[in-house]
Amino acid sequence: MSTGAPRFYAGLMSGTSVDGVDAALCEWPDHGRLSLIGTHYQPFSDGLRERLLTLCAPSHNELEVAGACGREIASEYANATAALLTAARVGPDAVRAIGCHGQTVRHRPEAGFSIQVVNPALLAELAGIDVIADFRNRDLAAGGQGAPLVPAFHAAAFGRTGKHRVVVNIGGFANITDLPSAGVVRGFDTGPGNALLDLWIHRHRGARYDDKGALAASGTLLPRLLERLLADPYFSLAPPKSTGREYFNGGWLDRHLLGEEAPADVQTTLAALTTETIARSIDTYCPGAQEILVCGGGVRNDDLMQRLCARLAPVGVDSTAACGIDPDWVEAVAFAWLARQWVLRLPGNVAEVTGAKGPRVLGACYPA
Ligand SMILES: Nc1ncnc2c1ncn2[C@@H]1O[C@H](COP(=O)(O)OP(=O)(O)O)[C@@H](O)[C@H]1O
Ligand SMILES: [Mg+2]
Repeated sequence: MSTGAPRFYAGLMSGTSVDGVDAALCEWPDHGRLSLIGTHYQPFSDGLRERLLTLCAPSHNELEVAGACGREIASEYANATAALLTAARVGPDAVRAIGCHGQTVRHRPEAGFSIQVVNPALLAELAGIDVIADFRNRDLAAGGQGAPLVPAFHAAAFGRTGKHRVVVNIGGFANITDLPSAGVVRGFDTGPGNALLDLWIHRHRGARYDDKGALAASGTLLPRLLERLLADPYFSLAPPKSTGREYFNGGWLDRHLLGEEAPADVQTTLAALTTETIARSIDTYCPGAQEILVCGGGVRNDDLMQRLCARLAPVGVDSTAACGIDPDWVEAVAFAWLARQWVLRLPGNVAEVTGAKGPRVLGACYPA
């Protein structure tokens, strides 16, 4: 068993919801399944969130803002790591590496790059642990989308069960991973997950998100609006594909609105858009799926989960908790796993998912 060598991996993820940092401490025993040793969530301050959201679109003096935000987010990541390790009573020396995603502020696969803001050198300095960062660009260099990256982990954690499963991750954007009982793993971004729901309720109620989907549950579906939203070419584009705030944002939504809709009705319709785009993707690309496992913050949106269950019935929809991993931590665990893949010099991408020329070792190391 233990050789005294560092055996834990930490994953630090801040996703397109720009809500905060998810930190997970993991161990992969030599002959056993993943064990999740500890978790910590640290929300971003309103100020940092605003600055990061500003960087998601062209603005004045971006390089200066990006440089400062990179340092600020590295400090947040280091604080999250310290809290994670303290709660788990694990010292930094016992951690082999941190998988650090950073904050995506520009995902431009069509131009061959994806920018995650974080200063990994500062994180290595503050945490005293090897940091593996920049996971997306190697896949892009090999002709891939650089996203989604979680399917390889989904396959390792939830695949090879003899059952045809689909994993649905509902963060700011949503992605699916198809895990057939035999054959190739596939996956792609289906479109907006929570991002437009968050944006709309923030605009009309000042809240960061629609708690449990209460506003969406109170409104009436606007079928014509839903039809206009669903007509966007992204939804019928064949995979590989990935997307983000560069495309689906407030401007995109506003272009489809007449301006006379009641806010609650728009929220309902946006919940239906997330549901329908996920469900159509599963219908089209995952025929015969026997079980749907959902993770990401979207699991906490009761209204959204009810819509998905109703739309995908009779196929069962459950959270990944049913398969041993709390849905809040799947992505952070995935980045701990990706750091471990780098350490073992094993591929982190699934070429069939991203469209890369082949499997690649992802990330770069900033030694402690
Ligand atoms: N109680 C809740 N009710 C409804 N939605 C929630 C709740 N808690 C979290 N969420 C949603 O989950 C999002 C965060 O999910 P997360 O998986 O962290 O996404 P990302 O990976 O994009 O950061 C929030 O922005 C919000 O939309
Ligand atoms: Mg998040």
